[in-house]
Amino acid sequence: MSADYTVQGSVAVVTLNNPPVNGLGLATRSAAVDAIRKAEADPAIKAIVLTGAGKAFSGGADIREFNSPRALTEPTLHTLIRVVEDCSKPVVAAIHSVAMGGGLELALGCNYRVALPGAQIALPEVKLGLLPGAGGTQRLPRVLGLEMALNMVVSGTPIPSEKLAGTALFDEVFPTGTDLIAAAIDFANKVADTRPLPKVRDRKVDYPNHEAFIQFSRNTVKAMAGPFPAPLECVETVAASVTKPFEEGLKFERERFLHLMQTPESKALRHSFMAERAASKVPDVPADTPVRKIESAAVVGAGTMGGGIAMNFANAGIPVTILETKQEALDKGLATIRKNYENTVNKGKLTPEKAEQRVSLIKGTLADADIAQADIVIEAVFEDMGVKQSVFRQLDAVMKPGAILASNTSTLDLNRIAAFTQRPQDVIGLHFFSPANVMKLLEIVRGRETGKDVLATGLALSKKIKKTGVVSGVCDGFIGNRMLEQYLRQAFFLLEEGALPEQVDGAIEKFGFAMGPFRMSDLAGNDIGWYIRKRRAIESPEIAYSKTADLLCEQGRFGQKTGAGWYDYKAGDRKAYPSQLVNDMIVKHSADIGLERRAISDAEIVERLVYALVNEGAKILDEGIALRASDIDMVYLTGYGFPLHRGGPMFYADSVGLSNVLDTIRKYARSRHGESWTPAPLLERLASEGKGFNG
Ligand code: NAI
Repeated sequence: MSADYTVQGSVAVVTLNNPPVNGLGLATRSAAVDAIRKAEADPAIKAIVLTGAGKAFSGGADIREFNSPRALTEPTLHTLIRVVEDCSKPVVAAIHSVAMGGGLELALGCNYRVALPGAQIALPEVKLGLLPGAGGTQRLPRVLGLEMALNMVVSGTPIPSEKLAGTALFDEVFPTGTDLIAAAIDFANKVADTRPLPKVRDRKVDYPNHEAFIQFSRNTVKAMAGPFPAPLECVETVAASVTKPFEEGLKFERERFLHLMQTPESKALRHSFMAERAASKVPDVPADTPVRKIESAAVVGAGTMGGGIAMNFANAGIPVTILETKQEALDKGLATIRKNYENTVNKGKLTPEKAEQRVSLIKGTLADADIAQADIVIEAVFEDMGVKQSVFRQLDAVMKPGAILASNTSTLDLNRIAAFTQRPQDVIGLHFFSPANVMKLLEIVRGRETGKDVLATGLALSKKIKKTGVVSGVCDGFIGNRMLEQYLRQAFFLLEEGALPEQVDGAIEKFGFAMGPFRMSDLAGNDIGWYIRKRRAIESPEIAYSKTADLLCEQGRFGQKTGAGWYDYKAGDRKAYPSQLVNDMIVKHSADIGLERRAISDAEIVERLVYALVNEGAKILDEGIALRASDIDMVYLTGYGFPLHRGGPMFYADSVGLSNVLDTIRKYARSRHGESWTPAPLLERLASEGKGFNG
């Protein structure tokens, strides 16, 4: 049963009951329709209270029905709302906790709405590239007015119910602590005989000079929406609430909703929404796997990463101790943390009190005994196996039994690191991205012997510190950096063949990347890649690399931190200025290796960079390093600035069609450095079966 039916005197109470948030799935809709009809048919019932069990009135559409025909199976949400609105007895929505999307649209179909304070009220469909498709764009302006409704529909941002008290959305917002159901029943009894029944659809939206306001909104929203069509469609449909009669407005809304459902942008947003949820599930680690408690943490190394990692714990209210070898490095690290918090306070994003509270949760020490009792320790020392070995031996000796020993290594073999200890089951990789206090991605690296409870704890921790955790197996570079290496290899080959950094960056940024490979390398530090290439040259000398990046590093041009990299930089300015010196060096290098430079199109640049990611991603998937294609997409969306409206590299490849992708890869396999384009067997297999990575 996904709606409960009880009677109190002459009031029927219909309670949506579909945990966790009373999503309006088919069974719930059917049960609600039946319950309303039953109440209507019962002569002893004079009014109906509609509410939600547990944690919500209703969170809206049931995401388990996404992309399934069930969403369109009768009774649809439209039908349910129509049944409520056409009911001959008054229906009172009793709202608490959450009324979002379809949940709010359902409430708007009721004759009355009463609420507790603190309920989150929103129409968030725009965040999935959609618009409210069950009357929300027509009914909300009728109770909140054009301007406020438009803001809510275009932004999707929740507003607490008490802020909407006094509007026609709510007939009453009760004081905190009120027994909602009892108060709603009282209210229902009071209005039981009132006729005609008030209906939101019968209200008019008054807005003098609405044309000018709508035009202004169009202009503003167009400028802010970037590649996404939904926000502007939201403006158009909300505008229809003023310019069209209700039924016509509803029809228009339906039509625009169905149109948006088919757009690649909405498909990409829905994919990413589902991908984020899927990422926290690991098939052999069930949701009820016990987790270890994390009430205190330690970080080893107060460098670039260590400080940012420590901030994550402090932000989540978990005390953290940073261990360093030198007082100077410790002082510097702690000062950077303080500065970061000050900057956030100066931007008005944090109160000085909260910042102080967080800073006070972070302690520094040079004595390893001070971290021994921490529930988790994350190592963020130099990327060198020798250093990792001595640190993990030390941690094994000092940390209390049951503590989780994590490494932030970006490339080193976690299984070897685990083997330095007597407790490999407690060792896990937690790979943060720079700046660690900002970037959403956390690669959770599962070693050969990592305990299931340790992995489950890593996943729970990622939620607690508000990261997107994605599980990766052990390989050089894990998911993200292993793919990035192929992407960068192509970027460097392109320089040899005729492109310049600003052209490559420009083309891929036009495709939608937050930053092209050269601006990104200048930000991260070109020396990191140099170091890795030197190691690779010893480990895998057969892999061909362009020497261009090495030539750059030989000149000490490590990027923003040295004031010069692929681009020139001016003091106090992060803008990248094309560098004549670097461009001359690139052109000369082509001549030195006997290559005639040619004009390279932006389309070729995008294909080579993106398909390099896709091909390596397919290998990673095939090897089981990533659990699912959507995990790879999450890594690229949250850690590497891949354009959200394209849904991640694997989803993008699916949308291009894998046989098209494969044809292009084969074409490049016949060109210079063709060996870098050996098609991934999985790509060949799926393409021949006419399938995609995501099914
Ligand atoms: P860093 O050089 O900025 O900081 C390393 C810190 O560790 C230094 O302050 C050093 O004094 C300290 N340290 C060295 N040995 C120590 C020991 N035995 N005990 C205590 N402290 C010790 O390095 P960074 O960039 O923070 O990198 C740290 C780790 O994070 C590396 O494994 C790196 O691969 C990884 N990483 C780095 C990223 C980046 O963008 N910089 C991104 C993701 C991971």
